[in-house]
Amino acid sequence: MRILVTGGAGFIGSEFVRSLLLASDADSAHQGLGITVLDKLTYAGTIAGLDPVSGHPGYSFVCGDICDADLVEKVMAGHDAVVHFAAESHVDRSIESSGPFVTTNVLGTQVLLDAALRQGVRRFVHVSTDEVYGSIAAGSWSEESPLAPNSPYAASKAGSDLLALAFHRTHGLDVVVTRCSNNYGPYQFPEKVIPLFVTRLLDGEKVPLYGDGHNVREWVHVSDHCRGIRLALRHGRAGEVYHFGGGTELANKELTGLLLEATGQGWDMVERVTDRKGHDARYSLDFGKAVAELGYTPRVEFAEGLANTVAWYRDNRSWWTPLKEGR
Ligand SMILES: NC(=O)c1ccc[n+]([C@@H]2O[C@H](COP(=O)([O-])OP(=O)(O)OC[C@H]3O[C@@H](n4cnc5c(N)ncnc54)[C@H](O)[C@@H]3O)[C@@H](O)[C@H]2O)c1
Repeated sequence: MRILVTGGAGFIGSEFVRSLLLASDADSAHQGLGITVLDKLTYAGTIAGLDPVSGHPGYSFVCGDICDADLVEKVMAGHDAVVHFAAESHVDRSIESSGPFVTTNVLGTQVLLDAALRQGVRRFVHVSTDEVYGSIAAGSWSEESPLAPNSPYAASKAGSDLLALAFHRTHGLDVVVTRCSNNYGPYQFPEKVIPLFVTRLLDGEKVPLYGDGHNVREWVHVSDHCRGIRLALRHGRAGEVYHFGGGTELANKELTGLLLEATGQGWDMVERVTDRKGHDARYSLDFGKAVAELGYTPRVEFAEGLANTVAWYRDNRSWWTPLKEGR
């Protein structure tokens, strides 16, 4: 099987590529697997995340923009499936400037869908987020919950989800949409809360906590998310949406306490800053459909996953120091 992975140099996409190709060395079910990564290498993309697979015979890398229709058409040819991660992904940046979010997340997705249709791609997995639903005070969203995004990032992702599903309904393209809660793990750009706080605390710098710190997020380890995407790629039903979560809900203040503890720092390192505009109070996904249909269950226990993640940032300064300095 030949898979085109967009955004494969990013946090989740690189985990997906590493996990598939490194497993293929051991697993005969993956023999003959080929992965082409298409990534523009924006500030969020780092080729170093793909170093562990750079010598793998099934791996190739193309540096380019998913909005470039001619390039996408050429690169897409000969692939059986697309797993689409490429996106502008940071909410705060979308509040500062929403143009790149609409361009990459909406227009870029449309360019990929058009090419997939023309090239006869057999499966298109569109990777999306719980943020498309907005905010929920109690309970959890099902795949049928109405989309009510609040940030420009979430609105651009919701637009791309709807386009992907429309290509299934209108053209019969085999599309599966996945929506996931907040991911954590290695190789996450140090602007998102966990790597931002960990790298700052390791450098003895204060960390900015938004508002009262009561906003609740549900956390899933990136390896669990990627296993869910692999399951959706193989067993998901065309035209369906699947949720992947980790089941661990934490207020940002609680998360901050855990990160202070893990890095041996105290609350004097926390600076209260003005809340993010339109800050969603709580996200929560019901992922029962993925459990029942795909056999998905999150495996990484949060305390262990967080400890390993902090240890990874402690041990891999050479990866994140240049990114932090260039920010
Ligand atoms: N991080 C999370 O917690 C989370 C949760 C749920 C869903 N998602 C979704 O998963 C996907 C991946 O998220 P991530 O956290 O790995 O993002 P990321 O910002 O770490 O990586 C995005 C990657 O896309 C590439 N890219 C950006 N614009 C491009 C373009 N125009 N053409 C080609 N490549 C481009 C970047 O270079 C980068 O490698 C996104 O679609 C995001 O919406 C993320």
